[in-house]
Amino acid sequence: MDHVAIFDTTLRDGEQSPGASMDIEQKLEIAHQLARLGVDAIEAGFPVSSPHQFDACRQIAEQVQGPVITGLARTVEKDIDIVRDALSKAEHWRIHTFIATSPIHMKHKLNMEADAVLEKAVKAVSYARGIAPEVEFSPEDGTRTELDFLCRITEAVIDAGATVVNIPDTVGYSVPEEMAEFISTLKNRVPNIDKAILSVHCHNDLGLAVANTLAAVEKGARQVEVTINGIGERAGNAALEEVVMTLNTRKERLGLTTGVNTKQLYNSSLLLSSIVGFPIPRNKPIVGDNAFAHESGIHQDGVIKNRQTYEIMTPESVGKEESSIVLGRHSGKHGFTNRLKELGISLNKEETDTAYQRFLELADRKKEVYDEDLFIIIGQELHNGLGTYKLNYFNVISGNVSVPTATVRIEINDECIEEAATGDGPIDALFNAIDRATKVKTRLARFQVQAVTPGKQALGEVSVSLEIEENISVGRGSSTDIIEASGKAYVHALNKHLMMKQATEAHRPR
Ligand code: KIV
Ligand code: ZN
Repeated sequence: MDHVAIFDTTLRDGEQSPGASMDIEQKLEIAHQLARLGVDAIEAGFPVSSPHQFDACRQIAEQVQGPVITGLARTVEKDIDIVRDALSKAEHWRIHTFIATSPIHMKHKLNMEADAVLEKAVKAVSYARGIAPEVEFSPEDGTRTELDFLCRITEAVIDAGATVVNIPDTVGYSVPEEMAEFISTLKNRVPNIDKAILSVHCHNDLGLAVANTLAAVEKGARQVEVTINGIGERAGNAALEEVVMTLNTRKERLGLTTGVNTKQLYNSSLLLSSIVGFPIPRNKPIVGDNAFAHESGIHQDGVIKNRQTYEIMTPESVGKEESSIVLGRHSGKHGFTNRLKELGISLNKEETDTAYQRFLELADRKKEVYDEDLFIIIGQELHNGLGTYKLNYFNVISGNVSVPTATVRIEINDECIEEAATGDGPIDALFNAIDRATKVKTRLARFQVQAVTPGKQALGEVSVSLEIEENISVGRGSSTDIIEASGKAYVHALNKHLMMKQATEAHRPR
């Protein structure tokens, strides 16, 4: 099978998405994860654009082994020299130089004639090739470039030493058939095309970035430029995880492979999302919470009998734990009883019927019925007796010269426990104080903050995942005060764990 090289530009084009800037430590963390993921190339940045960009590129080049490290340069010697200065210590490195070639960009942005653009491109590529082992050339706005000129400049830069020619759909204007035609034309009309790898770089303005990328690959492009979660300028770039999983899932039809370890896809997506603070939409293909969740009764029944009825790939193959049956008003009794079984709860027929009725009533009022709702349904009588934790008050002292300290009062079964603790930050101190009061041993597996209303007084929603006794318990809390929202979410997760324990113990199969 043919290999398609995965060129990740999360740290360059991805970072150009408004609000996605990262510090150097964060970029290094992403770059190491990309190496674990097995991408072929990492575009680390645009070194001439700022000292921060230069340093990030240099540190990635020095510390990240495996992928080719690339840096972007305009077709000017100064930019190219700076890429060399930043990257030349890398195990493998490449200079990526670009100039716009579409009539609208040449006229209004560059104020240059086509022949002058071609000459500048050739000069830059041959200069870069004199100092770097690999050179990539991109005719910016390639898909709005006149085809004759695109063929001419492609041939000229390959003659000048380009090892990769990348066709960008800079403004996300192309449609898949057209993209396929571009690649076929280049393959057929450029005599030296076999001396370079043909690549594509698609933006998602019309939601077609992945489709355009795949159309190009079907016609012979052998490098794809992508980003994790599809972040990038405006509507973003083609999403790495979607392109890779299409090649993987449909390999019999497409006959193409990548070097990506798909089990690292979910981790990579979560890492990026937590670093840039862009939540992953629930319905995002491959990595969204709903990507492997089934709600309708017919689907649940099918998945319980054989997962392949409604799953074209497994969650495990992308590094997610398992598919989930989401209970809601569309779920049937089969899905309901199956979930109880998975939770280790066994009820007799009569109890099942009553519980199912209660479930239906709740499902009518609520969009989704979570495990904790089931535990409440099943263990209502127990729950009343045993109680849950209440965060009566908290006080947190924090500042840039003091050790963050939190005091809490937690109430359980009419008993109030007061505790204090310090931490690495105010939220850590608060969580430590709650742990002391409840004496529950926890590990914070995930912490996410999201503004749910706009403006300075935004309501923040915090979601925490706690690992307790080898189970994961997720809690949510919201408030205009992010510390309070965090405390609420933490106590919510503890209470869910408590309820789950009580219900399973009472209804454990004998
Ligand atoms: O979208 C684009 O044209 C680019 C180039 C620099 C490759 O990002
Ligand atoms: Zn781009």
